[in-house]
Amino acid sequence: MAWHNIAVDVENDGIAVLTVSRPEKLNALNCATMQEIGAAVSELSTDISVKGLILTGSGEKAFVAGADINELAEADPLRSIDVATWGQQLLRRIETLGKPTIAAINGFALGGGLELAMACTMRVASPNAKFGQPEVKLGIIAGYGGTQRLPRLIGRGRALEMLLTGDMIDAAEAHRIGLVNRIVDAPELLDFCRATMRKIFANGPVAVRLTMQAVDVGLNTGLDEGLQFEATAFGVAAGTADRQEGTRAFLEKRQPRFNGR
Ligand code: COA
Repeated sequence: MAWHNIAVDVENDGIAVLTVSRPEKLNALNCATMQEIGAAVSELSTDISVKGLILTGSGEKAFVAGADINELAEADPLRSIDVATWGQQLLRRIETLGKPTIAAINGFALGGGLELAMACTMRVASPNAKFGQPEVKLGIIAGYGGTQRLPRLIGRGRALEMLLTGDMIDAAEAHRIGLVNRIVDAPELLDFCRATMRKIFANGPVAVRLTMQAVDVGLNTGLDEGLQFEATAFGVAAGTADRQEGTRAFLEKRQPRFNGR
């Protein structure tokens, strides 16, 4: 498929890099861009050669500077409900892809940009990255899950501070409060994300997938439901050839060769 607002590269080792590419608008998410991200995510989700996804922004200034304010200026209530719901569903699809996703945050991650990053499994930022949910400054609120994922990631008080003041925080602060996993210099950012992906790929694929599901189930239900899911998933993992291979390889003092079964 020909993309106009994004670029998608599927690399040899099973890593797909999706780059939001409207640098002249700081990669702001207009509807056309969201639709392309949705189509790309659908394609990548069923492509068995793709084992993980890195999301980033083009240029040196921005990851994604939010939803496109030109479109927000034309918003009406009913269409806005549809737009928010559709965006939420897309980000939830990314969050539950069953494949690890890493946001490589190379600059501004504001509004929908931060929401996109928060839907990823992990976030790695360059030192120039800036984070914020400035929607209230525009008289609107976060609509792609910001009011839900931000408190889950950094706690209620800090999340409300960001959501209500609209202030930006820098990469060091984002790292300090757990909003990003790592800070890596811009030239090495993508390679660091690739290396992290390869570490995950070296582990049992079924175990990786079940672990992501268990964390998601627990965070979205409660401790009892999460523990129950974990125990069942533990049983499923115990029944895999990968468990046999992983434990045997340890005992034989060699690297495991997992096949995802
Ligand atoms: N939607 C639409 N266009 C956007 C945008 C957005 N979210 N963010 C930036 N742009 C555009 C600017 O309008 C400008 O376009 P122009 O050159 O045609 O005027 C271009 O991107 C460059 O941005 P500019 O504001 O000139 O860069 P800056 O370095 O001075 O400031 C920001 C950078 C990120 C601080 C500033 O662009 C900003 O505040 N953007 C909006 C962030 C926001 O509120 N996002 C949440 C939306 S819900």
